[in-house]
Amino acid sequence: MDPSPVNPSTQISSTSRSAAPAPSRALHALGDTRWDEGPSRHLEHLVEAGGVLHFTRMPFVLREPERCFLDPRWSDGHSKNISLRGAGELRGAQGTPDELRALREMIERFATQAQQLVDRLFPQYRGKLRSGNASLRPFEVATRSSSWRKDDTRLHVDAFPSNPMRGVRLLRVFTNVHPGQRPRQWRVGEPFEDFARRFAPRLRQPWPGSARLLRLLRVTKALRTPYDEVMLQLHDLAKADLDYQREAPQAAVDFAPGSTWVVFSDQVLHAVMGGQHMMEQTFYLHPDDQLVPQTSPLRVLERVLGRGLGVPARQRNP
Ligand code: SIN
Ligand code: FE
Repeated sequence: MDPSPVNPSTQISSTSRSAAPAPSRALHALGDTRWDEGPSRHLEHLVEAGGVLHFTRMPFVLREPERCFLDPRWSDGHSKNISLRGAGELRGAQGTPDELRALREMIERFATQAQQLVDRLFPQYRGKLRSGNASLRPFEVATRSSSWRKDDTRLHVDAFPSNPMRGVRLLRVFTNVHPGQRPRQWRVGEPFEDFARRFAPRLRQPWPGSARLLRLLRVTKALRTPYDEVMLQLHDLAKADLDYQREAPQAAVDFAPGSTWVVFSDQVLHAVMGGQHMMEQTFYLHPDDQLVPQTSPLRVLERVLGRGLGVPARQRNP
């Protein structure tokens, strides 16, 4: 079924003077307003093609007593986000037991709605998506970061130094819950394959045995595969290249309060330029469970580099 566009031209504009505009086909404005109701949408092909599915009127509705949680004072001061772990544990927050319970319930409700949404949008993934953390991000987007590597105002694909994905996809649902008018301001970059081809000549082989050593020292939570090594290098190469940041094809996208967007954040080049108060739920998907596994960063990189990247096909039950 085709998505019903809602005047996509109002959502997108070219950013800097010198940057080439990103193809607007990456952004799909959609009119669904309910998380859980409505027909199944079959949008796997759009999101797998690197699309940003933008539900312009899909708010996460806070209950009256929950409105106070849109305030950085609930943060424990150590982490950027307040997160709900898969096992139901709340991290990064401070408050009385009653307050923390209410905060947890709010994030749990978001997680439930995000699950209902992805089940409805992507019937092919039902039973195959694994849910990760959900988070509330109450801070103003920092314009200065402690390090360029952590600076998410620079275009990047998501890849984590300590948490190797081993080929598994990162599908994320975001909602702007700002109580006023403040949009979440993103830049969205070029298609993943163009990005991979551009930086491929600069990729370096890691030191032999480095993955094992990092695991042994518990720097990483699992053994990095060659895929993780390449993804981390691509993340760093893009962020460190200020000419790329300025001149790469890109578009500015404003996500207004009350809107929700869904992307594969390991594939879509993105940067956050401003905003406050957002919720997010992460899902994991094995690339073999995609509609078109060939579109996954793993398979694209294997094609571009002409070698395997150490991720075996998922073992299927006989
Ligand atoms: C990111 O994933 O780079 C951050 C997105 C955001 O905070 O809006
Ligand atoms: Fe990111």
